[in-house]
Amino acid sequence: MRDAIQNLPGSKIREVANAALGRSDVLAFWFGESDEATPDFIRQAAIESLQRGETFYSHNLGLPELRLAIAGYASGLHGAIADQRIAVTSSGVTALMLAMQMLVTAGDEVVAVVPVWPNLTAQPLILGARVTRVSLRPQAGLWTLDLEELLAAVTPDTRVLLLNSPNNPTGWTLTREQQAVLLAHCRRTGTWIVADEVYERIYFGPSACAPSACAPSFLDLASDEDRLIVAASFSKSFLMTGWRLGWLVVPEAHQDTLGKLLEFNSSCAPVFVQRAGLAALARAEEVVPQINAHFRDCRDRLLAGLMVTPKVSVASPPGGLYAFFRVEGEDDSLALAKRLVARHGLGLAPGVAFGPEGEGWLRWCFASRDLTRLDQGLLRLAAGIGL
Ligand SMILES: Cc1ncc(COP(=O)(O)O)c(C=O)c1O
Repeated sequence: MRDAIQNLPGSKIREVANAALGRSDVLAFWFGESDEATPDFIRQAAIESLQRGETFYSHNLGLPELRLAIAGYASGLHGAIADQRIAVTSSGVTALMLAMQMLVTAGDEVVAVVPVWPNLTAQPLILGARVTRVSLRPQAGLWTLDLEELLAAVTPDTRVLLLNSPNNPTGWTLTREQQAVLLAHCRRTGTWIVADEVYERIYFGPSACAPSACAPSFLDLASDEDRLIVAASFSKSFLMTGWRLGWLVVPEAHQDTLGKLLEFNSSCAPVFVQRAGLAALARAEEVVPQINAHFRDCRDRLLAGLMVTPKVSVASPPGGLYAFFRVEGEDDSLALAKRLVARHGLGLAPGVAFGPEGEGWLRWCFASRDLTRLDQGLLRLAAGIGL
């Protein structure tokens, strides 16, 4: 086995979750998903597809009509994007892995803004690349970027700049101005930007694009010729985590090659899942704002509770699905997360799962069908930290 694979870190979120296997009394907020099922009309589209017997392979790049629908959806948010730039993928994580496979060779340098969802930094390591981590810094619970530090880290030797905004776990979100500076810098250094924008519609800041909340995107600024790959997903804003459906926006010149690469990964996404994606996009501007509004209620409910909890330091995140907070006197996040689940039935993710920069912090996914689950969780947290 290659060392890069042998040495992959195990998921510390799974480590906490596995300790609670078989327990039905745990309130689980450790994974990045709601406990609410996918809207029924989306499920129906998949059922109808299966009933029609759509059980065959499709085009490597996805059904042409789905690529068109994605291009239409993305154009509505970010200005004209041709379907010749779209590839359908079996999930956002696969989209990101494909992006890395397209760009990164063993020995290359990838610069990543951290803390971040660990899959993002593991993918270049799997390919033998080196990852340089530039850390966000917490100020009164709010994580911010030192832009100068990031610019200094990205040099002509940097193959890829990897950015996840809105960010998992901190909620940090790039501003349009920061994106413009980074894009101009990467044009000068010849660096590719890989932007993980799977949370773009789960944004609570000033609306950056019509018709509803959407975080600033590199697609708003870049041209088709730019070295930019954007990964997106149906998982979060359509409540479709289990379906495994996402997409990539690439420069048009690279779409055919990406089709070849897809052949050797998943070959194609399942057709009935793509039909579900088509149904979702057809009603996106009705469904996504509703889901976003509910997530905002969840965020506000949880944050209001956390902010009045003694010993807790936290700030309201502008985007994403998570409250990232720390508890005074608790520096070992894995031990704390294990204790909370074992003794109090509260399932949170340890901050160290997102890199050493997250040590001492906890991540709480606030996406919850029923807001009172969050209240119950807050009570358990208070008990767990000795209040
Ligand atoms: C930052 C980030 N990127 C990408 C993904 C991938 O989502 P999926 O593979 O479900 O599309 C996730 C999922 O949690 C995430 O948090």
